[in-house]
Amino acid sequence: ASNRTFTMIKPDATADGHTGAIIKLIEEAGFRIVALKKTLLTQHRAGEFYAVHAERPFYKDLCAYMSSGPIVPMILEKENAVADFRKLIGATNPANAEEGTIRKLFAKSMEANAIHGSDSDENAAIESNFFFATTEQY
Ligand code: CMP
Repeated sequence: ASNRTFTMIKPDATADGHTGAIIKLIEEAGFRIVALKKTLLTQHRAGEFYAVHAERPFYKDLCAYMSSGPIVPMILEKENAVADFRKLIGATNPANAEEGTIRKLFAKSMEANAIHGSDSDENAAIESNFFFATTEQY
């Protein structure tokens, strides 16, 4: 398995001032920040990022929500990064997220769930390259 994953702090969490607290939890869990920025997605670009969900009933709302405020995309490095990071953030639905996970602490709903984590090494690479040039990935 690759040792990198991709994440972004979502608009609900940046708006509520949780960016620093979330980054602190990520570093304390042993992840090294390879790339990081604060940026805004247009609805169109959110649609491209979530293209795999295009047929889902929640797609349109998701694209509107993901472009409603700034996000903080990051590339992270750690042994077993994809799986370990998904453990750290917890279940998509915060009602099912384990105690101590980032979503348990900060997510508001299934949609406004504070943070994204790639679900495979392949998607981690695709999502990283969506936001960061190769020369930004150190
Ligand atoms: P994420 O891990 O970024 O991947 C897709 C996102 O779609 C997910 O987090 C949620 O923000 C959103 N999502 C997934 N399932 C649902 C759902 N059933 N209803 C609304 N939003 C959802």
